[in-house]
Formats: sequence, C-alpha cells, structure tokens
Amino acid sequence: MSQVKLIVSNWKMNLNFKEAKILVNNLKKINFKTTPPINIICPQFILLPFVSNLLLKSSFILGAQDCHYKKKGPYTGDTSIELIKEIGCKYIIVGHSERRQEYKETDKTVKEKVDLILSEKLKPILCIGESEIERKKKSYLKILQKQLDICVPKNLSEIIIAYEPIWSIGTGLTPSLQEIIEVKEFVYKFLKNNKNINKVIFLYGGSVNSQNAKEILIDAKVDGSLIGGSSIKIEEMNKILTLG
Ligand code: 13P
Repeated sequence: MSQVKLIVSNWKMNLNFKEAKILVNNLKKINFKTTPPINIICPQFILLPFVSNLLLKSSFILGAQDCHYKKKGPYTGDTSIELIKEIGCKYIIVGHSERRQEYKETDKTVKEKVDLILSEKLKPILCIGESEIERKKKSYLKILQKQLDICVPKNLSEIIIAYEPIWSIGTGLTPSLQEIIEVKEFVYKFLKNNKNINKVIFLYGGSVNSQNAKEILIDAKVDGSLIGGSSIKIEEMNKILTLG
C-alpha cells in the first residue's frame, strides 16, 4: 500500500488463550513485501498480558477494546486505564456501538473516556456510526455530527475516528464507496472547522474482509480500518495486511 494504513483488529469477546497464541504466531509470520500497515491488536482484557508477551519483538501494537471513564474507584467488574497502560496498550477503542447499545453508554460518557485516555497519553480510537433507520431517514450526517461534537475535544494535534455504521457491523453489508467518501470528507471538514483539528485519521469499520478491503482501503482512500470478524481469521488478515 502506498500510504501506510492503520489496521485495528477488534477481536471482541472471541478467542481463548490457545486460539490467541495460534493467531498471533501466524500473524507474526506474515511476509510483508512492502511497508507493513500499522497493526493494532485489541484482545479481551483477560488476554491482554498474554498477548502483550506474544507481541514482544514484533511490529504489532497492543490496544484495548474499552476503558472505564474514571481512573480508579468502586466500579465492580470494570478495568482501569492504569492497568491497560501498564500492560502495554497504546490505543483504546472507545464508544463502540456494541458498548453504546449493550451498556447504554452515552456521548457524554464516551467524551469522559476520550479525555481520560488523552490525559494518560494514550490514543483513543473513537467510534461513531448511525443506525439503519437513521441512514434510511437520511439523518446520518446529523447523528455523526452530534457524536463528533460531544465526544471530540478541541485543538488536538490529531484524532483517530472509526466510522462504523451500526447496520454494517457483522452483517456483510457495507456502504458504497461514495457513501464512505462522503462521511470521510464530512468528518475531516467538521473537525477542522469546529474543533480546529487538522490531522484526522479516518478508519472505516463494518464487514471488512479480504474481498472488499481493496475497494475500501485503497479506492475510498480511507486511512485504515477497524476490523471485527475477519480479524480473527488468519487467511483473511494475511490478504488484508498485504494488499498491494
Ligand atoms: P465486523 O468486521 O465483524 O463487521 O465488526 C466491525 C466492528 O465492529 C469492529 O469494531
């Protein structure tokens, strides 16, 4: 790939220790003929120390799928950013639609997480996306604008935005090239004009696989991708990561 892309693997609540080891060992064997993408691997929390060890001396970077919005305290069952950082994560996915839906996370909570992640000098990967109804009603740009407006602080030197239409996640459906480009340009423009952010790393996520990766990553000229289902399949990742 001529431009170095950012490829984020979101393993979600998949893979046990044995499966994670096999996948990472195979990922490390991929033969990159040209400059490799920047590869971030985001496993489940309990896998983090194990995967962190497996990734030592590789070019793969560790990331987390979420973090709590407070630094520490009485939050039973949650994981603090302190531990996420100590174990070696450099990136944290935040505001994923599965968390917004399952755990009723609001834009306000997502913003608190973004602030905490930035204050800890880690990089948030902020997910935004519209529902199927919002897309059909053509209110998607308004929805995305609201998410960006609330969740993104002003005057950052850069921000990573992952556009993941909810209707595309795990469904096999993807927006057209033009639809992705429209959102990409909207996000660049909104963040430049309203948040004074000139460097936006725009990722697309939702049913990305080895069949559509070229069109999405190269033809739509996005800066990278956030990959779910395909990220735990070595044959898929082999093809996606070595796209020429
Ligand atoms: P799928 O690639 O399985 O559609 O998931 C996308 C996603 O939610 C990545 O965060």
